[in-house]
Amino acid sequence: MADLKSQYEKIAPEIDSVIKSVLESAAFIRGPEVKLFEEELANYMGVRNVISCANGTDALQIAMMALGLKPGDEVITTNFTFIATVEVVALLGLKLVLVEPYPNTFNISVEAVRKAITPRTRAIVPVHLFGQCADMEGIMTLAKQHNIFIIEDAAQATGADYIFSDDSGKKAGTIGNIGTTSFFPSKNLGCYGDGGALYTNDDALAKKIRSIANHGMKVRYYHDDIGVNSRLDTLQAAILRVKLKKLSQFNTTRKAVADFYDESFAGCLFITIPERSMYSSHIFHQYTIKVKNGKRDDLKKYLESKRIPAMIYYPVPLHVQEAYRYLGYKESEFPVTSSLCGEVLSLPMHPDLDQEQLDYIVLNILKFFEKP
Ligand SMILES: Cc1ncc(COP(=O)(O)O)c(C=O)c1O
Repeated sequence: MADLKSQYEKIAPEIDSVIKSVLESAAFIRGPEVKLFEEELANYMGVRNVISCANGTDALQIAMMALGLKPGDEVITTNFTFIATVEVVALLGLKLVLVEPYPNTFNISVEAVRKAITPRTRAIVPVHLFGQCADMEGIMTLAKQHNIFIIEDAAQATGADYIFSDDSGKKAGTIGNIGTTSFFPSKNLGCYGDGGALYTNDDALAKKIRSIANHGMKVRYYHDDIGVNSRLDTLQAAILRVKLKKLSQFNTTRKAVADFYDESFAGCLFITIPERSMYSSHIFHQYTIKVKNGKRDDLKKYLESKRIPAMIYYPVPLHVQEAYRYLGYKESEFPVTSSLCGEVLSLPMHPDLDQEQLDYIVLNILKFFEKP
């Protein structure tokens, strides 16, 4: 799905050199590379503060802690996302409220959020799924009307631009109160281990986030907040500094791969290609088709037999996951999510796919649908 080995080989001299210099400096925790990376990422994102942490799941948890969410507060998010988005809500004793996504963009439905708001709603977590922004203008309007915090889960959308109706733009993750991201290796901006970050334009909130991520202390051994230990390694920061410089180029190449897939599948009745929203660029963390003839699983198996990887993100709606049965949702309550879980298939997507590989993937997919 992602060819991290080829990617490393292409940038090996730069990566090896920064790793060597971190090793020689012996500044493994909170070294200068971490601060430089935060500054460079803030500059790229056009946001006042970037606070790095250990992974994208921690980033979500720290965001909810920093906003002072308390047990019983309601948090609305999409039923069609990676488990991390909802896990932290449950861990903090908050009340998880799941809503449907839009069937075409896969992102959270603003109408569904509107219906789910109650006087106890404290936060909405839009997830910019597969590399494309959720309808942030719609979400921000609801947030203002009801005085609700917005935490954007931008783990899959580093570099995507949201386009407002006045044509101005902002990067995914910099619109709400806090944005969070992950630097998991296969992410568009990925490191060589775990990593994550939070974004905010609110300086006071940034201080709180920094404190919570560091055992709740602003001054060493004085703990004002209950915190956690969540740090980005210096080595990972140094690697990310190299890769950040290449992010725009990598995202452009991903888009070219997506354009090729779109054109190749345009005439195939059984494939719905991913919709591109008017209000967002798409950085194609995943290229996810919908298979409309009920044979998604057969297609996946067929591709495996041809040594073509394909993945189902996500096979089971969150409301029927064993660990989340306690929420008490009925199985039939989320028809859009359930139907997506039965149809979606993500195809190989990374900047190092060559034309021969792409031709082979497309040829085999089209061949599958030609079979009687
Ligand atoms: C939408 C979303 N949120 C959160 C996360 C969590 O990130 P991490 O794996 O760095 O904890 C991921 C990672 O896959 C994700 O895709």
